[in-house]
Amino acid sequence: MNDSSALLEVRDLKLGHHSKRNGKLSLAVSGLDFDIRKNELIVAVGPSGCGKTTFLKAVAGLHPVLSGELKLDGKQITGPGVDRSMVFQDSSLFPWLTVMENIVYGLKAQKRYDAAGKARAEWLLDLVGLAGRGKAHPSELSGGMAQRVNLARALATDPELILLDEPFAALDAQTREVMQEELLRIWQSGGATAGKTAIFITHDVYEAVFLADRVVVFSAGPAHVAEIVDVTFDRPRSPELKRSPEFLRQADEILSLVMSQSWAKERMVTA
Ligand SMILES: Nc1ncnc2c1ncn2[C@@H]1O[C@H](COP(=O)(O)OP(=O)(O)OP(=O)(O)O)[C@@H](O)[C@H]1O
Ligand SMILES: [Mg+2]
Repeated sequence: MNDSSALLEVRDLKLGHHSKRNGKLSLAVSGLDFDIRKNELIVAVGPSGCGKTTFLKAVAGLHPVLSGELKLDGKQITGPGVDRSMVFQDSSLFPWLTVMENIVYGLKAQKRYDAAGKARAEWLLDLVGLAGRGKAHPSELSGGMAQRVNLARALATDPELILLDEPFAALDAQTREVMQEELLRIWQSGGATAGKTAIFITHDVYEAVFLADRVVVFSAGPAHVAEIVDVTFDRPRSPELKRSPEFLRQADEILSLVMSQSWAKERMVTA
């Protein structure tokens, strides 16, 4: 692929954690290599503990790079920035702030809470289906509603790259399906959220195929890229797609790839 079209470049990336007990380094990611193009929705899947969250945190600038390249718009990532925002698995809303105060928190921190920022926040509240709930507190929201607020908060600062770490994993199956459709609706709605670049982590291969332009399958940890699968279904995508034979075939293919990595890991552990 042509490097000049890459928004994020990952080259021979190595990430790790130092043990709090003895300071020993254990690798979480090693030899990770791939590119993300502008406007792509990339889904990353892989065995539990293989290094997905560590990778996403490094992209967010919250985890140091040991070696290799991790470049956003051609510049090595060295810390957090206004060009990225992250959505975590569990709602990370501030319980003492209202829904709207949570959504505009980043804008205020960046001193960008002007008339345009306010209008954008109102528009996002509406976009995520919570118009009229801006004065509610997080404790009054269902899990699905809280994740909608998280999504609106992440989009409020108009980041170039949005990082989603299993954002729907804590939701029940039905709400999760709704949220997947909502996410695509927001993605496909045009306007200020159109053409965002995103990295979405999930363990759900159906969610992966439904959302992704490409699915990156991480190997057993320390993670490298085991396989990249192109998902070529047209957009907009509707829920009926999930019942089509080609959809099920692709999901099955990705599941097999992840499972083979999980077996590889089992062998590593028991060997
Ligand atoms: N704060 C930490 N300190 C030490 N080791 C850590 C820390 N966080 C993660 N690890 C280790 O790094 C490796 C990768 O963890 P990571 O959370 O990135 O995996 P993951 O792919 O996101 O897993 P899951 O799918 O279960 O969320 C694991 O071996 C984990 O034990
Ligand atoms: Mg994780």
